[in-house]
Amino acid sequence: MTPQNASKLTEDICRLAPVVPVLVIDDASIAEPLARALVAGGLPALEVTLRTPAALDAIRAMAGVEGGTVGAGTLLTPEDVKAAKAAGARFGVSPGATDRLLQACEDEELPLLPGAATASEAMRLYERGYSVQKFFPAEAAGGAAALKAIGAPIPQVRFCPTGGVTLQNAPGYLSLGNTLCVGGSWVAPAGLIAARDWAGIEALAREAAALSR
Ligand code: 3PG
Repeated sequence: MTPQNASKLTEDICRLAPVVPVLVIDDASIAEPLARALVAGGLPALEVTLRTPAALDAIRAMAGVEGGTVGAGTLLTPEDVKAAKAAGARFGVSPGATDRLLQACEDEELPLLPGAATASEAMRLYERGYSVQKFFPAEAAGGAAALKAIGAPIPQVRFCPTGGVTLQNAPGYLSLGNTLCVGGSWVAPAGLIAARDWAGIEALAREAAALSR
């Protein structure tokens, strides 16, 4: 898959809803009801971070949820890419980008949302063909003001800012011309997951899905 084609696919995924939930799942048995709650609340694109031993099983379980588009986050190595693809991930997300990681996603046909935090990083990815990127860590890297400033000289690149994004600061990003959606973990907080409070998570998803962009 070319980076250009990957970017078309990730753009479509980013346009599904204003927020992509970033999910940390410790117990794969909750993956399916969690995905159902988020999709029911209006957030179909889901990112499961490969940070827990349960993550790949969670992706497998979520891949069967109707209406959902499940991706794998925290891709760091070519091995992560292969495992994510085999588990059924439809897209990948990485906090940064290396040549080996990009090549693995292109070889494995996994559309990647690669991470960039600076103008040079965004330029290197754009040079390779990635016009849709994750701005990470969004708040720590300067927030909406930084992303707006990057957009002035590099309007060709559109972003999904992630990292420290909340319901309160999301509108500042979503109003920018170079922001397609935001990513965030606030819609699936650990407390509500532990309590199996699917109605509570669906309500948070509904609130996030109503954000305008
Ligand atoms: C991540 O990769 O962990 C994301 O940036 C989520 O960040 P958040 O927990 O601040 O939303």
